Amino acid sequence: MSDETKKYFVESFGSEPEQLAFAPGRIEFIGNHTDYNGGLVVGAAVTEGITVAVSRRKDRKIVLVSNGGAPIERSLDDLTPLSGTGSWTNYPIGVTKVMHDLGMEMLVGYSIAVHSTLPAGAGMSSSAAFELATAYALAAVYGYKTDKAGFARIGRKAENDFVGMPCGILDQGVSAFGEDNALVCIDCATEVFSTDPLPDQTQFWVFNSNKKHALVDSAYAARFKECKDALAILQKSYPEAKTLSELNEAQVRATEAELGDVLFRRALHVVTENARVLAVEAALKAEDLDAVGQALCASHESSRVNFENSIAELDFLVDQVKQQSHVFGARLTGGGFGGAVMAFTGPEFSTAQAAAVAAAYAEKFGLDATVIHTRAGQGARLL
Ligand code: GLA
Repeated sequence: MSDETKKYFVESFGSEPEQLAFAPGRIEFIGNHTDYNGGLVVGAAVTEGITVAVSRRKDRKIVLVSNGGAPIERSLDDLTPLSGTGSWTNYPIGVTKVMHDLGMEMLVGYSIAVHSTLPAGAGMSSSAAFELATAYALAAVYGYKTDKAGFARIGRKAENDFVGMPCGILDQGVSAFGEDNALVCIDCATEVFSTDPLPDQTQFWVFNSNKKHALVDSAYAARFKECKDALAILQKSYPEAKTLSELNEAQVRATEAELGDVLFRRALHVVTENARVLAVEAALKAEDLDAVGQALCASHESSRVNFENSIAELDFLVDQVKQQSHVFGARLTGGGFGGAVMAFTGPEFSTAQAAAVAAAYAEKFGLDATVIHTRAGQGARLL
């Protein structure tokens, strides 16, 4: 990965890069749409991710190359978002802007080459990986320091303020704090990050539906707003609650009439999801993998019925996976409205079983599901 990125940099810019950095994509294990609601999430960094190669330049240009496309030229004097085909540059340019605003000034521009082993649009957060890899590399070449949480916050701020996506800290936090064979647990209210070892021999399989809701970004923003609206109504009865995650299921149920059907179901998803995260953490400690699996499946059901961020393709993949042996549980992973399903399995779950799921999916929807057998790997780092 780093060799390919280095080669690509040399071909594009005619010299060796000063610095290489890698950041992984992530699986959202459980904790769906809880992060920006001040709740709990558990994820895993995967071994696939994004590598960048960077060198400082003598002028104030920022020159970016990715996937064999033509170089895109930006400038340190115009750190504004682009739309259209160059919009992929908003991730590194957004990171550059956030770093500047934090006092990590860059007096000369840089050249950057990007190489990804993560399927884009698979719900494994290639955008957070891109942000984190860029932030690590830029901090190193310009001589700035921060810690893992600092890098995660830079990535999230770039996404919120520059890209315009109102995400929480899940993707960037997991990409920063990932460890081999471990889950990353985040309390998003306090931004406390910790890791828990994964039970021996357990496996992750990701089934990318290759289906994307046309309005995925606006659908996410709509859910973000619904959660805010639900909180405002709940605060009339519970003024001390600063986020939905400070409320419990009984309190939400007691406010059903005031919330109305849609906001009631959105709030119910968030508060029950926080409870499922706690249930998963307890079940992992007790090595009760069946209980972990049940919570994963219940999370998907709550997405389907209450948060309505699943789609028929994801529901079908979850159902097919659940019918296979050696599966503890399965659920949509990430924002939803398309993207991927994650299956948590024992070591006996086989490539043939994954292929059977993909074949049933192809027959039903006429679409190929991409199957990725991955494992929990290390977080963002300099190479
Ligand atoms: C996307 C966002 C995350 C999180 C998930 C849903 O991945 O980027 O911040 O909200 O959706 O849990």
